[in-house]
Amino acid sequence: MGKLDGKVALVTGAAIGLGEATARLFAAEGAKVVVSDWDVERGPTVADDISSGGGTATFVKADVSKTEDVRAMVQATVDTYGGLHVLFNNAGIVGDTASTTECTEENWDAVVDINLKGTFLGMKYGIPAMLKSGGGSIINNASTSGLVGFPELPAYSAAKGGIVILTKTAALEFAKQGIRVNVICAGTIMTPMVQQFMDSKEGMQQFLESKVPMGRFGTAEEFAQFALFLASDDSAWCTGAEHIMDGGILSI
Ligand SMILES: NC(=O)c1ccc[n+]([C@@H]2O[C@H](COP(=O)([O-])OP(=O)(O)OC[C@H]3O[C@@H](n4cnc5c(N)ncnc54)[C@H](O)[C@@H]3O)[C@@H](O)[C@H]2O)c1
Repeated sequence: MGKLDGKVALVTGAAIGLGEATARLFAAEGAKVVVSDWDVERGPTVADDISSGGGTATFVKADVSKTEDVRAMVQATVDTYGGLHVLFNNAGIVGDTASTTECTEENWDAVVDINLKGTFLGMKYGIPAMLKSGGGSIINNASTSGLVGFPELPAYSAAKGGIVILTKTAALEFAKQGIRVNVICAGTIMTPMVQQFMDSKEGMQQFLESKVPMGRFGTAEEFAQFALFLASDDSAWCTGAEHIMDGGILSI
């Protein structure tokens, strides 16, 4: 028996990285999964691969920063699988590496729109569908950068910090209606996003590795297991909380 048998899960940014790993694990645990992304090359291949492996998944294209896309993404989920029980607001970008004075307004807007507004829109349209489905679990993807400052990533840190407080707000609003809302604050996990960030600055990889007490970055599979805990009834009494997984970084 899977931990998500009978559940419908919607994962944004699921074409690659943490979203892909989580969508695959949710499907392996019995959920019917909507793999959503704005990447129409990789996204459908993830859904097809899950389906050909015996799971249930479909791809829905959406840019999470666009109201109409997010509304349609939630509607497509309900139309395809009959409801919504698990929503993983994962899609995000790091944006440019630049100090607060050097960060351009364009970079600020793009990073905040995708990370923070995208999470807001996911909940704005996802929560009504979840209420009609009898409740559920929302997992938002912030970062340790949303809990402590990260030099030269002002927009990313601000957006992730905003996601933490937005999570708590929504959790309080819907706690009595059977909707749990939690946020994961992960340290560095090697994904295409992180690889690109490492490559943008010489010595960045060694610098970040040296900050991890456990001596290594996390894996996408470890992240997915953490998201599964929050998606499933194993975390039935958890809501409004920031869940840190970082190999010990923030303990220093
Ligand atoms: N990898 C890490 O170390 C780490 C740590 C903490 C938090 N996070 C967060 O986890 C999430 C996923 O990160 P990742 O490392 O897997 O990144 P990634 O770049 O490997 O994957 C991100 C996915 O999101 C999609 N995406 C980006 N903008 C989108 C948009 N506007 N609409 C729809 N899809 C969009 C991309 O196409 C891609 O498939 C992000 O929110 C990131 O901030 C990552």
